[in-house]
Amino acid sequence: MSEAETEETDDEQEETAPDAEESASSDADAPAPVGVKLGSTRTVLATDDDLVESLTCLASYEDALTGDDRYLYGEEAALEYPEAVEFMLRSGLPEDDDRADLAATFFEELLAEHDVADDSVVVYAIPTIENDEGLANLSAVIEDSAIGEQHIRSYPESLCSAVPALGDGLEAIERIFVGVNMGSTNLEASAYRRGEQLTRFATGSVTGNEIDRRIANYVEDETQGRVNIDLTTAREYKENHADFEDFQPFTDVIQQPGGGSHEFTIERSVMDALDEYVDEAVDAIANSFLPQVANDYMKTYNIALDHPIVLTGGMTAVPGLADEFEERLSEELQREVSVVAPDDPVVAAATGARRIAEQLVKRDAY
Ligand SMILES: Nc1ncnc2c1ncn2[C@@H]1O[C@H](COP(=O)(O)OP(=O)(O)O)[C@@H](O)[C@H]1O
Ligand SMILES: [Mg+2]
Repeated sequence: MSEAETEETDDEQEETAPDAEESASSDADAPAPVGVKLGSTRTVLATDDDLVESLTCLASYEDALTGDDRYLYGEEAALEYPEAVEFMLRSGLPEDDDRADLAATFFEELLAEHDVADDSVVVYAIPTIENDEGLANLSAVIEDSAIGEQHIRSYPESLCSAVPALGDGLEAIERIFVGVNMGSTNLEASAYRRGEQLTRFATGSVTGNEIDRRIANYVEDETQGRVNIDLTTAREYKENHADFEDFQPFTDVIQQPGGGSHEFTIERSVMDALDEYVDEAVDAIANSFLPQVANDYMKTYNIALDHPIVLTGGMTAVPGLADEFEERLSEELQREVSVVAPDDPVVAAATGARRIAEQLVKRDAY
């Protein structure tokens, strides 16, 4: 903290009333709770007064004056350096040392631009996949960063995201429930009992990235081969237009290589891909994951299915997807199940992680 900032805080405290001052000073001693989700597509940082969202990507360029390496991250990098931008967590985790270094640089740049306290307790969300090296690399990125001087701890992403979905406190770590997380690179599912992850399931074949690929293919078909879109455009079509309640056909324009432009309308490509996605997710949960839970933990299975399944992950942001999933899963299981999702699935892992960090601070568990 700079001296100017320290002085400012002192001034503020002098102005507050005596009893407010007391609680302010005990709060000031406590570390700041911080929630982090370093995701394949997006990274989200949640502090007490800030919610930072960025695409997880980095572009380097040479300083035109000094020749030094410079970095851009996030939307700016993706927009200005489309040919060179690197999504280093594309596969979900930093796979090797190079990706781990890039992820560390990305995270440093992100922290440098936002005011996150070093004197903090950090909780970060991790995917439920068997990849020890990738998880160790992710852990190193957080551990080696400036924040989390007091304590750093990880919890499964679907548990973190379930926190804001299930209440205003930490209901998610006091209950038994099934969580299904729909991300860029995996469909994950777990049964949780008071925060303990009982069963884990993950498949790399039902994913947001796969839907982007399908949308790109279907757009080519729908336009009789006239339009080829890249995966970023396909992702944007999905994020901006996919809607199970009220899908509207939309138009876009491409520049022709020889000059001129071509306008086209998309009616089916996006929702055909999404429709398949929900069917495949339901199939994986009903026919692979849930039988495994029933087999290993019969009682837990029955309790869990009598309560809402918590649907998390960025793909849940598609309007109506949770209801569609609920309906089709009930049909597949021939049993009424209900589904809840956090209000804002893209930031839920980070805000849930921050809420856990807050409790660690309050209970002196750091
Ligand atoms: N508003 C949205 N509508 C549709 N899909 C979305 C939306 N926001 C994010 N997604 C998709 O969710 C996926 C990312 O989910 P997330 O849980 O953040 O993934 P990960 O943990 O794999 O990084 C991506 O496929 C992304 O395109
Ligand atoms: Mg994920």
